[in-house]
Amino acid sequence: MRVRLWHDALPQCSIDAMSMQADPRKLTAVRAPDDWAPASWQGRAAVQQPTYPDADALAAALAQLQALPPLVTSWEVLALKHKLAEAAEGRCFLLQGGDCAESFADCTSPLISNRLKVLLQMSLVLVHGLKLPVVRVGRFAGQYAKPRSADTETRNGLTLPCYRGDIVNAPEFTAAARRPDPQRLIEAHSKSALTMNFVRSLIDGGFADLHHPEYWDLAWVEHSPLQGEYRRMVDAIGDSVRFMETLAGPIGSFGKVDFYTSHEALLLHYEQAQTRQVPRQWGWFNLSTHFPWIGMRTAQLDGAHVEYCRGIRNPIGLKVGPGVPPDTLLHTLDVLNPDNEPGRITLIHRMGAGRIANELPPLLRAVKGEGRKVLWCCDPMHGNTESLASGVKTRRFANIRAELDAAFDIHAAHGTRLGGVHLELTGENVTECLGGARDLAETDLARAYKSTVDPRLNYEQSLELAMLIVRKRGNATPHAAG
Ligand code: PEP
Ligand code: CO
Repeated sequence: MRVRLWHDALPQCSIDAMSMQADPRKLTAVRAPDDWAPASWQGRAAVQQPTYPDADALAAALAQLQALPPLVTSWEVLALKHKLAEAAEGRCFLLQGGDCAESFADCTSPLISNRLKVLLQMSLVLVHGLKLPVVRVGRFAGQYAKPRSADTETRNGLTLPCYRGDIVNAPEFTAAARRPDPQRLIEAHSKSALTMNFVRSLIDGGFADLHHPEYWDLAWVEHSPLQGEYRRMVDAIGDSVRFMETLAGPIGSFGKVDFYTSHEALLLHYEQAQTRQVPRQWGWFNLSTHFPWIGMRTAQLDGAHVEYCRGIRNPIGLKVGPGVPPDTLLHTLDVLNPDNEPGRITLIHRMGAGRIANELPPLLRAVKGEGRKVLWCCDPMHGNTESLASGVKTRRFANIRAELDAAFDIHAAHGTRLGGVHLELTGENVTECLGGARDLAETDLARAYKSTVDPRLNYEQSLELAMLIVRKRGNATPHAAG
């Protein structure tokens, strides 16, 4: 079946996966580190790792994991790296989003398809408004491990290991649930594969076909105050597609993966077991995901996570929070990207609305001043988390928006370019973040607060943010090259 998609009607990044294959010198680093191996991280301090009580069971699970097929391929990984390089040059925009943490129980058809729908809809808004291709990257198919502020949790005098995400243990506060279980590594791999498989099938089967926008409508869109604006965009794109088809005939089929996956490369045994060499490519790839990132709590320059990531050829995200000295950031770039390869590094800054004005400029000056090629991406979520008096964790839409607005302005003022956003969101009608078009109040939060970790934007808040990005970027003065 020939699948027609709205993506095809819109500008594509100029070099695709095939031309990457044709001229690998364009993007590849010139050498692989010769003092690196998939296990060399084990010689460094590895924070945020569980202690598995049964070493033999861990070894057996890892051996099993190592023998399982990969979730992604090296050519997809390299194609994404190329697109991220394009985004750094202003020729694409990165949209990266999904749950703070996936759970095994949420590996269901409606949850996966609704998350895909909201990301597709946001990307439609961005493509239409920014007149740029959008690189869509989900925080899914592997986002099962979470960094925690303490190794243990104590309730009523009982101390147990903390919950580290479904890939490690279960959230219930019992000794059995909290015991790190290596079989969960296998289950995480299989749930990731199921998620991937469903996403690929939906997309290949025409889920994102603009001729059928009803496929990716979420029921309660109809009641949203944003519905009118959104519908007008869908109609405008539909008109363009029909116009182009009238002139040129049916527009091309969609033969390559258009949705990429990412997760925090936190649980290093899992990442190591999925680190592979492939025929006709040099070096090593993490084939559990296209785009692993290093979280803020595990970005130590001499730590295990940086050591692991420096040796794989995937594009790498690096979260950058308040207080990172510019010199440290530059040294981390030296380690992770010694050849200054375009597309290799995405710096995801997450400063908080109140701190970005002071924290970001020194980093921009240092990175730009040293001529480092990076894609700058803003995560306006993680610096804006707060606990209410009731103990509920939330984020205010106004702060998320303010950080993103400030990020665009600060980049413009420094001659650098904000080329992407990183968001925590869901396609469900949850009430976890305050504000937005419907102005959710504290009293609304209890209605549908489902996250066990960080609060997510709901469908409507996500779409609103996409519209705000378009307005903001549309009005921003053209960026100087950066
Ligand atoms: C996250 O992205 O869920 C996360 C924990 O982020 P950070 O490392 O920026 O705190
Ligand atoms: Co989070």
